[in-house]
Amino acid sequence: MAWLRLICVLAIVSTVSADGTVPVGQRVDCFPDPGFSQDACKARGCIYDSDYEQNKPSDPLCYFPANNGYTVTDQSVKANTTTATLTFSSGATANPFGTNFQQLQFQSTQLGNALKVSIKPVGTSRYVPPVPIAEPFIQSPESLNVEIVNNTGGFSFRVVRQINNIRLWDTSIGGLHFADQYIQIATYLPTDKIYGFGENIHQNIKHDFTKYTTWGMFARDQPPNSVNGEGENLYGVHPFYLGLEEDGKAHGVFILNSNPQDVTTGPAPHLVYRTIGGQLDIYYLPGPTPENVIRQYHELIGKPFLPAYWALGFQLCRYGYSGVDEVKDTVARLKAAGIPQDVQFADIDYMERYKDFTYDHDKWGQWPNFTDYLHSQGQRVILIFDPAIQADYDTFKRGIEQNVSWIEWPRDDLVMRDIQDQYPLAKNTKIMLGVVWPDKHVGFPDFLDPTNITTNWWADEFKRYHDLQKFDGIWLDMNEPSNFGTNQDPPWYYGSSDHPNDLPLKCPTSGADSALDIPPYKTKGVYIYGDGNVFASNTLCAFGTSIRGQSTLYNTKNLYGYSESVSTWKALEVARGKRAAIVSRSTFPGSGTVAGHWLGDNTARWEDLRTSIIGAQEFNLFGIPYVGSDICGFLGTTNEELCLRWQQMGAFHSFMRNHNTAGEPAQDPAQWPSVANATRIANLFRYRHLPYLFSLHFNATRYGGTVIRPVFFEFPLDATTHTLSHQFLWGPAVLVAPVTEPGVKTVSAYLPTEANWYSLFDTYYGSQLDSGHGVFPAPWTSIIPTFLRAGYILPRQAPALTTTAARQNQFELVIGSAVDAGTGSAHGELYWDDGETWIPIGAIEQHNYYRFAFDFSFTTASATLKITALNTATGITLPPLNNIEVFGYPYIPDMNQFYVNGQQVKIDSLTYSPFTKVANITSNGLIDLNKGTVTLSWKNKSN
Ligand code: GLC
Repeated sequence: MAWLRLICVLAIVSTVSADGTVPVGQRVDCFPDPGFSQDACKARGCIYDSDYEQNKPSDPLCYFPANNGYTVTDQSVKANTTTATLTFSSGATANPFGTNFQQLQFQSTQLGNALKVSIKPVGTSRYVPPVPIAEPFIQSPESLNVEIVNNTGGFSFRVVRQINNIRLWDTSIGGLHFADQYIQIATYLPTDKIYGFGENIHQNIKHDFTKYTTWGMFARDQPPNSVNGEGENLYGVHPFYLGLEEDGKAHGVFILNSNPQDVTTGPAPHLVYRTIGGQLDIYYLPGPTPENVIRQYHELIGKPFLPAYWALGFQLCRYGYSGVDEVKDTVARLKAAGIPQDVQFADIDYMERYKDFTYDHDKWGQWPNFTDYLHSQGQRVILIFDPAIQADYDTFKRGIEQNVSWIEWPRDDLVMRDIQDQYPLAKNTKIMLGVVWPDKHVGFPDFLDPTNITTNWWADEFKRYHDLQKFDGIWLDMNEPSNFGTNQDPPWYYGSSDHPNDLPLKCPTSGADSALDIPPYKTKGVYIYGDGNVFASNTLCAFGTSIRGQSTLYNTKNLYGYSESVSTWKALEVARGKRAAIVSRSTFPGSGTVAGHWLGDNTARWEDLRTSIIGAQEFNLFGIPYVGSDICGFLGTTNEELCLRWQQMGAFHSFMRNHNTAGEPAQDPAQWPSVANATRIANLFRYRHLPYLFSLHFNATRYGGTVIRPVFFEFPLDATTHTLSHQFLWGPAVLVAPVTEPGVKTVSAYLPTEANWYSLFDTYYGSQLDSGHGVFPAPWTSIIPTFLRAGYILPRQAPALTTTAARQNQFELVIGSAVDAGTGSAHGELYWDDGETWIPIGAIEQHNYYRFAFDFSFTTASATLKITALNTATGITLPPLNNIEVFGYPYIPDMNQFYVNGQQVKIDSLTYSPFTKVANITSNGLIDLNKGTVTLSWKNKSN
C-alpha cells in the first residue's frame, strides 16, 4: 500500500498548478494575523498581489494558491459512510501556523437525510467537546450527498442537495490546512444569504458578502459594541449558520468545535473557518424550510427547556440598589402605576462583599422577608450567582472537603505562591486563583468534572442557600469565565474604592509553558484587542486544567458557561424542584436545553436597541429562545424616549427584563409617566397574549425550532423579507414592527404579500390591512405596530398585574380569518400546564399538559369553531373560554343561534361592525375547556 500512496503523491506534485492565482473576491487570506508584509507573505509560500483592486480594500493581498495541498490516496464507501485518506503533498503551500499532519482521515456519515463530515489526523486522537450531540436519524424530504473530488487542485469535497445539485459546500476554493494548533477549511457557498454565527454584534440579520469580514468566536466578557464594532467576539460561541438558497430552500451548517475560532465571510460568496484545536466535525442539515433547518439543528444540540410560565412575565433589575428599601420602593412604584411585574432581581449588591451564597445582613437584612412578601403577591425573585468562589469561606471549604474539581495550574511549580499561600484552604492545592468581584482571590469550579462531585457540591450550595434565602430563578454571570486584570501590571482595579489591591493572575508569556496562551495563531478574538493581548486576557491561563485534569481551558473555555448552566440546572432541581428559568451570559450549542440568555452589557443607545432585535432572532436559531436584552440599556444614561421604545419592543422578547448599571439614574419604567403608561399598555398586551407565547415555547421544547423568528422564515420566496433585520415574527402568526429610531411617531413596515394581515394594535384594530410596504402609526400611547396573519388563531387570556393572577382569568381567542370566495378558515393551538412543574430534560412528552387545536371555518350561512383536546392533563383546572373575536368576518352572526356541541346556548353579548368586519362574542362560561373536545357553531343572519 505504501508504494501506491507514494505514486499518488508524486502524481499530485506534478499536477499542482504552478501559478495558482485566484481572482479577487475568491481568495483565502494567507495573512489573517497581524504583521503582514510582502516578504512575510512570500515566506509563507503564498501569493502576493500588489495589484489588487483599490476599491476592494478588504480583499487579502496575500492569499493561498487555489489548491488544498492534500490529495486523496485511499477511499472507500460503505453503507452510510464514505471514508478517504488525505495525504499532504510536500510541495504544497505549508501551513503558516504549524506543520500540517501528513495524513488526514475524511469521513462522511449519513444521519438520515442529514450529513456529518469529520476531518481529523490519522492515528492521533484529538479533543472533541464533551457536549452531548445526538446523532439522530434526521428526516427531511430532501437528502444531501457528499462528493469527493481529486483533481489538479488536490482534494476537495462537495455537499450537494440531491434534488437540484446545489452545492451547499464546495471546498475547491482551496486553503485546507490541519496542524496541531491551526486548522483551516474554506468553501464556496451557494448563496450570500447567510444568517447566524455568534456571538457577535451584527448590524444586519443577513451577513454582508460584499466584502471580507472576520468574526471572532471566543467567549469573552465583552460588552456589545453596536456602533462601530469590528467583529468582536462576545460572551458565547455558536458555530452555526443557516443559508437560504436561490429557490427559497434553506440548509444549516454546524461545526462542533470549542477551541478559539473565527470565520471570514467573503464575496465569492465563500467562507473560511479557522480553529486552533480539536478537529472538524461538520453537520449539514437539509431543511428544506428555514424552520425545518432549525428543528434539525436542535435535534442535534438539544431542544430548548420550557420556562416557567411566570418567567414570561415582566422582570426588573438593576446593579447598584442601595438595599432592600430601594427595591421595595421600586416594586411599589410599578404596582401603583399599574405595570404588570412578575419578577424582581437582585444583582451582586445583595451579597456580603460579593460572595456567592451570602447576603449582606445590614442593608439587605430584610431580603428574606421581602422575598416572602413578593411571593405572597404572586411575584418572584431571581438572584445573580457568579461562578468564582472566594478561597476562604464555607462554600470553598466544603468544596475542598468534598474534592470538588477546579480550574488548576497544570504543575505545582507554576502555582503563584504569593497568592496561594495567603489562603490556608488553597495553600496545598493547584487551584488557579484569580480575581473577580469578591474582596479576596477566587477559585473557578470545573463544571466539566466527569464525576458528579462538582455538580453535587454546587447543587448543595444552592440548596443550603435556598433554605436561608428563597429565590425562584437563577442568573449566571461572569462565566466566560471572566477574570479581572490577568497579566496586567498594575491591574485596572488597583485603587478602586470597591476592590482591594489583590495580586493579579499572571500566565506565562514566554517559553514552553506559554504554548497555549500564545499559540501561533491567536484568532480574531485576541487580535482585535491589539498587541499584548493573549488567550488569558480577561480570563484564566489557557493551560489551566479542566475536565478534572484531562483537558485545558484552551480546549474548554468556550464551554465554561454551558457547563455551569448544566450544573445549575441540577442545582435548581435540588434546591427548588420547581420549573423556573436560568439565564446565562456565556452560552454554547446545547445551552438552551437548560438556560436562557440575555444579550449582555449593552449601552443605552438606539443602535443597541436595534442590534438587540437581531440578537434575539439569532439566539432563537441557536436553540436559546428564552432571550432578551437589557431593556432601556445597561451602560450609560438612558432617556425617556429610548426607554419607552425599548419597553415597547422588549415586551415581545421572551426574556423581558429592564436592567441598569450602578451609578446611573434609575430607569424602571415608573420613572417617567409616559414610559410608565407605554409599559403598562405593552405589558398588558403581552400578558394577554402569553398563552400564545407559552404555546410557542412549548412547541420549541417538543420539536425544537424558533419562538421569535426572522420574517423570511415564513416567506422564504419573498426576497424583501431576506434582509428585514428589525421586524420579527412571534411564531408563524404575529408580525411585530418596532420603533427603532428617535423622533418618529410612525413605523415603515413590510407586510409580506403572500399573506393577508390584520391589525392587532390600537390603530385599525381588527381591520385587514394592505400587504406590502406601509407606514403605520406608532404613538407613545399604544403598543408598537403588531399584525395578525390571516389563517391563524391566537389563544389569549385577560391580563392582570402578575401571571399568577392572570392565569385565573378567562381565556379568549382572536381569530384572523383567511377569506376566500365568501368562505373562511383559521387554525391555532394552545398548550397549558400548571406553569411550574419540573420537567426533566427531554421529558416533555411525559409531562402533564393540555393541548388544544382550534379549527375555525365559515360559510355564508354559518360558522364552526372546533376545539379538539389533543392532550389532557390531570389536576389542572382551566378557566372558562368566554370571549371570541373574529377578524375578517363578512357576515352578521345571529345572536340567537349559537350552539355548543349542537345544544343552543344564550350569548351575553355580540358586537359586529360591517366596516371593520370584526365580530366579538362574549358569554360567561361559553366554553368549558375542562370538558375536552367541543364545537361551537352559530348561524349568520340572512340579509
Ligand atoms: C456584569 C453583568 C451585569 C451585572 C454586573 C454586576 O457586568 O453583565 O449584568 O449587572 O456584572 O453583577
